[in-house]
Amino acid sequence: MRKAAKIAGFVFVGIVLLLAVAITFTIGWRPFIGPRARPLTNRSFAATPERLARGRYLVENVAGCMDCHSPHDWAAPDVPISPGMEGAGEVFPLANLPGKIVAPNLTPDRETGAGSWSDDQLTRAIREGIGHDGRALFPIMPYLDYHSMSDEDLASVIVFLRSLKPVHNPLPPTQIIFPVNYLIRDVPQPLAAPVPPPDASTPVARGAYLVTIAACTDCHTPQDAHGMPLPGMEFAGGFILEGPWGRVASANITPAPSGIPYYDEALFKQAMQTGYVKARKLSPIMPWQDFRGMTDDDLASIFAYLHTLKPVDHRVDNTEAPTYCPLCKSVHGAGNQNHPHQ
Ligand code: HEC
Ligand code: HEC
Repeated sequence: MRKAAKIAGFVFVGIVLLLAVAITFTIGWRPFIGPRARPLTNRSFAATPERLARGRYLVENVAGCMDCHSPHDWAAPDVPISPGMEGAGEVFPLANLPGKIVAPNLTPDRETGAGSWSDDQLTRAIREGIGHDGRALFPIMPYLDYHSMSDEDLASVIVFLRSLKPVHNPLPPTQIIFPVNYLIRDVPQPLAAPVPPPDASTPVARGAYLVTIAACTDCHTPQDAHGMPLPGMEFAGGFILEGPWGRVASANITPAPSGIPYYDEALFKQAMQTGYVKARKLSPIMPWQDFRGMTDDDLASIFAYLHTLKPVDHRVDNTEAPTYCPLCKSVHGAGNQNHPHQ
């Protein structure tokens, strides 16, 4: 009897050890102990006219904040933000999300918006993925990209958010299904050091920074079943965006033959400023309505950077019937014209 109990005890300890090793090398302990988060500070950002202007530019024309954090009129052409609702939040309209994801009200309304959140609470949410309530944010909020946002740009963004018209807009809380609600606790990355201004020495370097904080890769890189970017497919398109605007796949924007090798700077500017590539109209979910307000110099820098991307062969064509694609494992236009890379 005692021997049996002893064996059972060993087996139990063995299972616990195996589980511990398995957890350490697979999902890690974060899902159980909560996200990495640094303590809050009492930093605050002084409002200056320069910051207000730079912040408006970043929020409205580069980083896409208002696109996700405002309700839209989905029936109108080019799906404008509902009048008077800039920054007032929305239940995120993308299909196939793991739960109800709500982009919160960022206006200074004290009851339903960001009015009572401190500058450092906003800082930590935007660049480090920790909500004002200490929760790990669902990474569709592109905090992994904004991680590289310089301190001065971040201050400008927050100064501009404080200037928005307060809108009273109660929204339901985000509710993420199990086990995703636990798994995302591994995503946030605290920032321990200041983030210096970006390298602005060449157009390619300026473009790299802009492409990062414009989160182009979030839409233009296809993802695996866990929402992680598919290695080797950076900017190769095929990511599916389905919602009130219809079902479209993002485009391959690498210089590969199946990407945009035929683009010159003028055609790129036309796409980003008008939503048309010659006579072909782009889906309004490609945020050209924001990007059209970018300066000529910034658009030229982005184009210079896109030219340096690794070419990835991947045909994606929304004008053709959706078929299974063996490369990105999703179903998109011209999917069946792709063949596994050798
Ligand atoms: C692709 C869509 C998207 C973009 C672009 C985006 N957000 Fe978000 N944001 C979200 C979603 C969705 C959430 C809620 C995530 C959750 O509840 O887990 C969120 C959460 C936040 C929060 C956390 C609020 C809290 O609870 O503390 C802040 C602050 C925020 N966003 C600010 C910004 C700013 C500033 C920008 C632009 C620099 C921006 N967001 C761009 C979708 C987006
Ligand atoms: C919210 C998702 C999203 C973001 C963010 C986004 N795109 Fe797109 N983009 C799309 C989708 C979807 C399409 C395909 C539209 C279509 O075919 O109708 C597209 C198409 C394009 C095209 C047209 C390619 C062609 O077919 O000729 C270019 C160029 C482009 N995007 C560049 C960019 C750049 C540069 C950025 C960042 C500054 C960016 N996009 C950010 C979703 C996005």
